[in-house]
Amino acid sequence: MKPNLKITRRVTEMPPSGIRAFFDLVMGMEDVISLGVGEPDFDTPWRIRETGIYSIEQGCTSYTSNKGLLELRVAIADFLRQRHGLRYDPEEEILVTVGVSEALDLAVRALLDRGDRVLVPQPCFVSYAPMVSLAGGEPIIVETDERHGFRLSPSLLRARAARSARGLILNYPCNPTGVSYVKAELEALARLFRGTGLVVLSDEIYDELTYEGEHVAFPSLPGMRERTIYLNGFSKSFAMTGWRIGYAAGPRDVIAAMTKIHQYSIMSAPTTGQFAACEALRRGRSDVLEMKREYARRRGLVHARLNAMGLSCARPEGAFYIFPSIRSTGLDSMTFSRRLLEEEKVAVVPGTAFGRCGEGYIRISYASSAENLREAMDRIGRFTERVRGGT
Ligand SMILES: Cc1ncc(COP(=O)(O)O)c(C=O)c1O
Repeated sequence: MKPNLKITRRVTEMPPSGIRAFFDLVMGMEDVISLGVGEPDFDTPWRIRETGIYSIEQGCTSYTSNKGLLELRVAIADFLRQRHGLRYDPEEEILVTVGVSEALDLAVRALLDRGDRVLVPQPCFVSYAPMVSLAGGEPIIVETDERHGFRLSPSLLRARAARSARGLILNYPCNPTGVSYVKAELEALARLFRGTGLVVLSDEIYDELTYEGEHVAFPSLPGMRERTIYLNGFSKSFAMTGWRIGYAAGPRDVIAAMTKIHQYSIMSAPTTGQFAACEALRRGRSDVLEMKREYARRRGLVHARLNAMGLSCARPEGAFYIFPSIRSTGLDSMTFSRRLLEEEKVAVVPGTAFGRCGEGYIRISYASSAENLREAMDRIGRFTERVRGGT
């Protein structure tokens, strides 16, 4: 008898990541300027790398505590207190994970029973809806639009019966739109949640890449700490994507449940990465500010050039993405991105990779050198003129 290699329905029914599908096209092409990937173009700052290397030299090559090095959890608690006035107990309310990706996965697996409804504002990071589905929950898509600046509002949430949902995945600054929120906007959302059972998974991985004003952490709002699982990590602000370190902070029962899953499936986050992350929090602040200044310069360049060529877009408030409209070219997102790649060798991501309401937009990552960005803008300008001219 043949082995039964049947794949589960929940996996076969899941669409492949739109980004992956598109980047299969990029593979094998030469001289492509890629503005597609969501990761810093900087190397991890040297002092952080050195600490990782030194930990290996010292023989720190075994598992750590399931929850992560206590030294790192204490450093995370200090960071949250100093930056956001948040108090979390490093022993019981913080868990170190394999990136924010694992923290998200653990949170939905710990919190959702079959059929629980989770609000997922779109356009959004590609993993949210699939992770909710894999955990047995039902993603309820909340579409935002350009007319309202791709901003989530209480009225949009009310229209999707937010008060009866089990959870909401919030992300700001947002991948892919660069949208962030000021305190008054967050307070308006918080008011809607008071008196409900709703839990907020707040993905604030771009916290430190906020260009307009100060980032306000969701659990720092009155009454929100007890209903928020705060997620953050080292991948973006410290240019540490490959080290795979993130964390969750939240109510102790939820962190204990997440730790239970984590100890069976992962054991502990990468040890070298944890030592490096300690150094990042201890002395990496100036590196973050330096990288942020450079992203801010590039943001100005890309925003001005795109608007000048008629691809309208708002100035991103955070992260390193910009989300221009390509409607004026008459092409759909996939055709625009495919033709731009084939004809001008510039890779961007079709907006539809981030949800249906991303149709008519593309995501450009400006985590690329100013020189690359200038050249890419020249090529995109040439391409859009040609398309509008009908050739
Ligand atoms: C909004 C958002 N959340 C989470 C992640 C995953 O980050 P990590 O490398 O910490 O798993 C990304 C990566 O692109 C992201 O954009």
